[in-house]
Amino acid sequence: MVDMHGRAVVVTGAASGIGEATARMVVAAGGQVVVADLQEERGRALADELGDAAVFQATDVTSEQDIAGAVAACQTNFGGIQGMVNNAGILGAIGSIMDTPIEAFDHTMAILSRAVFLGIKHAALAMKDSGGGSIVSIASTAGVQGGLGPHVYTMAKHGVVGITKSAASELSAYGIRVNAVAPGNTVTDMTSLAITSNPDNYDTTEKKIAESSPLGYAGLPADIANGILFLLADESRYMTGHTMVIDAGQTSSGLERPAFFDSDQALVRHTGA
Ligand code: NAI
Repeated sequence: MVDMHGRAVVVTGAASGIGEATARMVVAAGGQVVVADLQEERGRALADELGDAAVFQATDVTSEQDIAGAVAACQTNFGGIQGMVNNAGILGAIGSIMDTPIEAFDHTMAILSRAVFLGIKHAALAMKDSGGGSIVSIASTAGVQGGLGPHVYTMAKHGVVGITKSAASELSAYGIRVNAVAPGNTVTDMTSLAITSNPDNYDTTEKKIAESSPLGYAGLPADIANGILFLLADESRYMTGHTMVIDAGQTSSGLERPAFFDSDQALVRHTGA
C-alpha cells in the first residue's frame, strides 16, 4: 500500500461506495481525511469509526461555499490539504435527449461536472502556496466512450476528463498534479439502485456486473480506491493530466452498454424522475 503519512485529503461523496472505500484507504495508509457528503448520519458514523484521522463535513457539492468549506475544514483540522478527491455523484437525468427537462440537465451537471471544476478550483487555491498537492476526480467509462451511460452523465463525465487535462497544464507550475479515474461498473449503492431498485441488493448487482465484465468478476469500491490512492501518493509523481481507466477491459474490448442498463425503467427508478 502507498504511504499517506502527513497527507490530509478531502473526499467528496465519502459516505458511501467508492468515496467511502477511498476515505478508509487514506486512513489505513497513514493519512487524514475529511468525509464530505450530503448524508450526515452515514458520513458522521464513518468519521467516528476512523477516529482522530477523520472528520465529517456536511457538504452539498452543488454549493461553491460548501466545497470551499470542506477544503477549509481540512486546513483547520489537519493543518493543510495535500489531496482532493472529487467523487460525489448520482446517475442523474435519464432517457431520451428529446424528453430531458433542462432542470434535470442542470442538476446533473451541477453535481457531476460543475462540482469537479469547483473542487479543483478551491483545492488549487489552498495548495498553491503550500507545496502543491494531488487532485483526483472521478470520471467514468462513460467519460471516455459514448453509449455507456445516460446522455447527461456521459456529457458531464467527458467534462471531468477535459478539465483534468486543462487544469493540469496550468497547475503544474504550482506543484499541483491533476488526474482522473474512470471506473467501469462497480458494486455500490448507485449501481445497486439502478440495476435492482434497491441500494442494498449487492449480491444481485455484483452478479449482473460480473456477467458483463470481460474479466468475469465485478469491480468493488476498493478496486477503484486503489487507483485513486496511487494517484494521490508520490508513487505517481510523474503523472498529471491523466485519466486512469479501471474497468476490467470493458472500454478496450469495445463492449457496448451492459444489458442491465438497456431498460430506461431501471434508470427512471434510480433517479425518481
Ligand atoms: P454511491 O451512491 O455509493 O456514492 C455517492 C456518494 O455521493 C453518496 O455518499 C452521496 O450521498 C454523495 N452525493 C450525491 N450527491 C451529492 C451532493 N450534491 N453533495 C455531496 N455528496 C453527494 O455511488 P458511487 O458508485 O460510489 O459513485 C461515486 C462516483 O463514482 C460518482 O461520481 C460516480 O458517477 C462514479 N462512478 C461510479 C461507477 C459505478 O459503477 N459505481 C462507475 C463510474 C463512475
